[in-house]
Formats: sequence, C-alpha cells, structure tokens
Amino acid sequence: MGFYEMGCVFFSSFILKPRFLGGSMSVTMQEMHTDIGLVNTIVARSSLSFIDGEKGVLEYVGYDIDDLARQSTFEETAFLLWNRRLPSNAELADFSSQIRTNYDLSESMWDMIASLPRDASPMHALRTLTSALALEDPRADDSSEEANTRKSLAMLAKMPCFIAGFDRHRKGLDLVRPDSDCSLAENFLYMLTGEKPTESMARAMDICLILHADHGFNASTFASLVTISTLSDMYSAVTTAIGTLKGPLHGGANQGVMLMLQEIGDIDAVEPYVMSKLASKQRIMGFGHRVYKAYDPRATYLKTFAQAIAEDTGNINLFDMSKKIESVMDREVGSKGIYPNVDFYSATTYFSLGIDLDLFTPLFAMSRVSGWTAHCLEYLANNRLIRPRCDYIGPHGQAYTQINQR
Ligand code: CMC
Repeated sequence: MGFYEMGCVFFSSFILKPRFLGGSMSVTMQEMHTDIGLVNTIVARSSLSFIDGEKGVLEYVGYDIDDLARQSTFEETAFLLWNRRLPSNAELADFSSQIRTNYDLSESMWDMIASLPRDASPMHALRTLTSALALEDPRADDSSEEANTRKSLAMLAKMPCFIAGFDRHRKGLDLVRPDSDCSLAENFLYMLTGEKPTESMARAMDICLILHADHGFNASTFASLVTISTLSDMYSAVTTAIGTLKGPLHGGANQGVMLMLQEIGDIDAVEPYVMSKLASKQRIMGFGHRVYKAYDPRATYLKTFAQAIAEDTGNINLFDMSKKIESVMDREVGSKGIYPNVDFYSATTYFSLGIDLDLFTPLFAMSRVSGWTAHCLEYLANNRLIRPRCDYIGPHGQAYTQINQR
C-alpha cells in the first residue's frame, strides 16, 4: 500500500463526517477511500427515515416514531413509507382493503408450506416462500412502478400466512386461512394461534410492526438496494433482504436476547453473566448500534411497553432481568454509547405475547418488508448500479504452475 493510500485508510477511519458517494463522476483508484463496513459512507439519498444517532431520534418521512407508535397503525405506516405522506380516510380504507384482499395464498403456495421440512428454521422457510411467490407471478420481471408496487403489496400482505402457516405446519396443526376482516397484526395472531387475539394483544403486535418498519440504510435494506440496483426484480430484492436480516448482528439479535435471558435464568445471575461476557470480549445481544450512540428511541418506547405486557402476562421476572442487564451494561459500557437497541425489549414483548423465539426475526421481516420495498421503489426512481470496489491486498504476477507440479 502506498503512502497516499495508507493516508486515506487512516483518514477515513477517523473521519466523523460521512462522505456522500452520489455523484456521477468517476475518480481514480488513488482518489478512493477505504471504508470497511461502510461506516462513514453515504451511498444514496432517501426521504423515508431520518435517524439522529447522537440525539436518539427516528422519524419516518418527518413523523416522530413515538407519535406513530402511539397514534398510527401499521397499514397507515406502510402507506406513509410508500407514498411519503399520510393517507386520507378514503385512501387508507382503500389501501387496507387492497392489503386484505391479498392476504390469502394460492393452493399451490399452501401446499408448498405443508411440504416444507418441519424442522427447518422459520427464517429459511420465510425466505424460500417469499422467493417462490415469483414463480407464480407471470409479471415477476415487470419492473414498472405499477408492477413493483403490486408485488410489494402482495409480499407485505402474504408474509403473515408464510410465518403463521409454517409455524402451524411444523407443530402438526391445521393451517388457518386468513381473515380479511382483520388488520394485518390481528390476522397474523389469529392465523398463528387459531383464536382471535384480544384488542390489546393485536394493538401490541401492531405497534411492534410500526417500530420495526424502517430504519435508513440498515444492512438488509442496503442488501435489497444492491439487488434492485441491478434491475433485478422485487421478489429477489426482498429475498436478499430476508437472508441479510437473519444474521445475529442484525435482525437475529432479538432471538439472541431471549436465549440470553433464558440462559441467565435468574436476576442474581445477571451481574456475573454480563461481567464474564464483557471480560471475554463477547457481545451482549440487544445492545449497541452502528448509528445510535444515544438510547435507541424504539427501545425507549418498547421498554415501557414490555413492562406493561410482562406484568399482564406474568413475565415480569424477564422484564426485571432485562432492566438489571441494562443497568450493568450502562455502568460498564454506557460511556462508549452502547445502549439497548430495538431488539432488546422487543424480545420480552414478543415472548409475553406467546410467540416462539425463532419467530421473532420473521416478525421483524413481516414489518420491515414495508421499508425494504419503499426504499427499492424510491431508489429505482433514480437508479444507479451499486458496485463498490475492494482494496486488493493479495499478491501480483504469480507464475502459474501445473497442478501435478504444486
Ligand atoms: N456488547 C458489548 N460490547 C459491544 C456491543 C455489545 N452488544 N456492541 C458493541 N460493543 C463494543 C465493541 O466490543 C467495541 O468495543 P471496542 O471499541 O472496545 O473494541 C465497540 O463497542 C464498537 O463496536 P463495533 O462492533 O465496532 O460497532 P459496530 O457499529 O460495528 O456494531 C453492532 C454494531 C450492532 C453490530 C454491535 O453493537 C453488536 O454486535 N451488537 C449486538 C448485536 C445486536 O444487538 N444487533 C442488533 C442491532 S439493532 C437492530 C438491527 O439493526 O437489526
């Protein structure tokens, strides 16, 4: 590496102001910066969600996440993300009705759910089923805005069937068909349990969906943009995103939080558990964030919410353990800006709602599909292939030797 390139690496790892790479002019290799993990790189403009990581602010199209969680619905939030404005009464009724008429699956998709291995992971099942939707769409490769919006709506509407259907199939239960009289959150809980949820359970699920709907260029959204930027199709973009969300450093963390709470088992074991993890440089799931160096505003909301649900459902011990983890983490690493993220208190919330641990991340996907597709639609309006470079550090000019001479 030359002196100039070393300087760039050094400089980019300390630079605080992100660089915007949206220009159309190419630069020479010498002028490029290395930014491992794209920590300091802005790859596109977006008017969907705004995050102030220092102040702990999240807005969707300018609306504060707290206001949306308290007053909106998931359907209205999806409309907001796709249209970048709130709907009128008539528009929301029409939009909700379009979603509801798309809930159900074709018979061959129901058969596909019933043919999946029962011991498969729900995230693998969800990714496979979402991808399979393209097989029965004769216009899967139509990339007009109208077709892409239709596909986005279909994926959003059908994901509850995939998740609840697969869960019942693996448990050997009869599959429950969707009820188009219900909201998406209510319908999901109904298909999962076979019983209509109480109003407060349905609202709790709806709020979780609102809170997870979008979050800037997180890893799965970025992955979906890479796919769509090649002018591939929406099903492929969302399939890519599901595969990316699955990782424990991203959406998989909510399941990791619950596994950790179960492993700790008792409030008195919290302190030694956290201390030994930190001493061995291991991560505590549900803490830390690439962008937030203040309290994640979604976690602020979920903390109050998790407490209320945990009290109602006899799971207050889980909430108390979570609070204790938070206080040890605050004392030990709070000064580094490591606070609970969205996954930390959503784990207790989902568990209290009676949802199996390995459905936590699929639920994240069921909500985030609204953000993935909104970003893809937005990006396509001004598309440019996303194709970064790598900093090649391997050898040059090697002499090829025949295999039998190596
Ligand atoms: N527990 C303990 N230490 C942590 C944690 C954590 N959860 N997160 C970050 N750190 C420390 C890390 O060890 C490092 O310390 P040092 O500077 O002494 O080496 C410092 O904080 C910076 O960490 P980083 O890995 O460079 O930060 P990052 O921006 O690359 O990683 C993260 C962000 C979310 C991957 C990371 O915080 C993490 O692994 N958290 C646990 C997994 C998790 O909860 N993920 C969900 C993220 S939010 C929802 C979503 O996007 O899906």
